[in-house]
Amino acid sequence: MKDFEFYNPVRIFFGKEQISKIASQIPAGNNVLIIYGEGSIFKNGVYDKVKEALKGYNVTEFGGVEPNPYYETAMKAVKILKEKKIDFLLAVGGGSVIDATKFIAAAALYENGDPWKILAENDPVKSSLPFGTVLTLPATGTEMNKNSVISRKSTTEKLAFVSPYCFPRFSVLLPEAAGSLPCNQVANGVVDAFVHVIEQYLTYPVNAPIQDRFAEAILITLIEEGPKVYAEPADYDAMANLMWSATMALNGLIQCGVPGDWSVHSIGHELTALHGIDHARTLAIVLPGLWKVLREEKKQKLLQYGQRVWNITTGTEEERIDAAINKTTEFFESLGIKTRLKDYGVKQDTIDKIVTRFEERKWLALGDRGLTTPAVARKALEYQL
Ligand code: NZQ
Ligand code: ZN
Repeated sequence: MKDFEFYNPVRIFFGKEQISKIASQIPAGNNVLIIYGEGSIFKNGVYDKVKEALKGYNVTEFGGVEPNPYYETAMKAVKILKEKKIDFLLAVGGGSVIDATKFIAAAALYENGDPWKILAENDPVKSSLPFGTVLTLPATGTEMNKNSVISRKSTTEKLAFVSPYCFPRFSVLLPEAAGSLPCNQVANGVVDAFVHVIEQYLTYPVNAPIQDRFAEAILITLIEEGPKVYAEPADYDAMANLMWSATMALNGLIQCGVPGDWSVHSIGHELTALHGIDHARTLAIVLPGLWKVLREEKKQKLLQYGQRVWNITTGTEEERIDAAINKTTEFFESLGIKTRLKDYGVKQDTIDKIVTRFEERKWLALGDRGLTTPAVARKALEYQL
């Protein structure tokens, strides 16, 4: 096992009767900015509950954060913060709203010019406004981590940053509110969480059995519970299991002491940036392609994954690896998530563009052991044409 440091300060409130607790977490007298998306919180009753919980605070609202949130939108909120002397931010919605809030919180106190540098130049965040979240969509894990992914409309870029100042103070997880999700968003959530686990698990063995077993438990739970929620998003028990799985998939725990990959995400973000494809769908395209290219390098873990997650125990090693890749693809497709580029109208020219971008950014050896070179990324995408 590798050395590691683990720190996660996010207080979690999970379940049906939890929203009222937010008042105990925000200092009395604070000016609070509620940040939300394009309106789902008005339809599922979460807005009313949040307003009720914040009675007694001076509340300002900022709505209209779009999926794959834009820097341009976030910067409008930064302006409001200054005008209204906001002390505390409350993100209410899915991963996009929470990621935007993280960026807004950091940008508000950024002193080194244009906050885009946090993303484009990895300029470290040195402080941020405090914020909490109310989660209505299980998928990203952002409610319990320090990551944020922001897009820039003007340059069609999508970039991530990580900062210990971007842990939420608390997150309220609401499986009930997620019951209003359309099936396609549920499917996105299952696949995003699944690939988060894979990015931290499917590398090479480092004798870390507890991390492996945690990861496999999350994968198996997603395989069992995901289809139930896809069939019936209002199935509270199944949704609760999906939501907690998605949080556990990316809160740092299973990453302790093991190598990560994350190149599926790096390639996937380009497909979103260039074609607006939902984040999870980009992962479902890229993952099988990358495995086909790196099957030899990732052999030990592919075999372990096949055996422990999919019960693949017969056949030669090569046959078992094929079966593991096929099972994964079939699982994604069973949730209505297509895995080929042609399903999204994406052609060779996009692959060329992505490879050029990687070369220009000097992203020459991404992921697990630096195996994802621009040439590997090209091959992975070409497998999925
Ligand atoms: O905008 P509203 O009206 O709220 O509608 C949203 C949006 O249209 C809707 N929605 C959310 N909760 C709902 C609901 N509709 C009905 N009922 C509810 N209860 O769902 C749509 C998608 O929302 P979004 O927040 O975009 O989805 P998700 O949570 O999947 O977040 C995706 C973003 O997170 C980033 C992705 O790249 C993408 O930008 N990620 C963030 C990560 C992180 N910070 O750690 C890790 C991930 O790998 C990912 O990259
Ligand atoms: Zn993801």
